[in-house]
Amino acid sequence: MEFAKLIRERYSVRSYKSIPVEEEKLQAVLEAARLAPTAANRQPFRVFVIPTEGRREELGKVCSPDWFAEAPLVLAVVALKDKCWVRKYDQRPYGEVDAAIVMDHMVLAAHDQGLGTCWIGMFHPEAARELLELGEEMDPIAFTPLGYSSDVPGPKKRRPLEALVVDMRGE
Ligand SMILES: Cc1cc2nc3c(=O)[nH]c(=O)nc-3n(C[C@H](O)[C@H](O)[C@H](O)COP(=O)(O)O)c2cc1C
Repeated sequence: MEFAKLIRERYSVRSYKSIPVEEEKLQAVLEAARLAPTAANRQPFRVFVIPTEGRREELGKVCSPDWFAEAPLVLAVVALKDKCWVRKYDQRPYGEVDAAIVMDHMVLAAHDQGLGTCWIGMFHPEAARELLELGEEMDPIAFTPLGYSSDVPGPKKRRPLEALVVDMRGE
């Protein structure tokens, strides 16, 4: 799909069909994660592919809305705190930034495959740690359901460019 169309069309899907996601579509989404840029190319992340079948109760503890576990799959991006690049001037770790880019690559690739997603930041970190059996150095950053939408997009509510861009040309 043309990129401009893709980013215009993508929306957060909060209702899913229970039909399965084809393996090749899942692989296309995961390949987008693999190709995502990361600081110093450290690739300090893991993507978890979680089948929802038989896990709805556990997933409900991670994120409460019913639609979270409605799709056949949920994806999680976990940052590896001990592997990420750290900016030397102020010791800022970039693992969360890397993980966000990975999730966004997957979300866009999913739409390209005709699949719906919804970024989830509102999850219970401890329940997520338990579900994914994460060690101390692994930091769950974001989840998304992955499946076919049974939702309809609302209007895109965005601020005008002037409110978002500081154009310093001509100063
Ligand atoms: C970092 C991040 C966290 C988000 N967390 C949630 C969430 O926990 N639950 C939810 O329903 N939507 C969540 N969203 C989706 C946003 O609400 C949504 O992207 C925004 O309202 C714009 O709508 P659109 O994605 O349909 O264009 C999140 C989005 C981002 C980027």
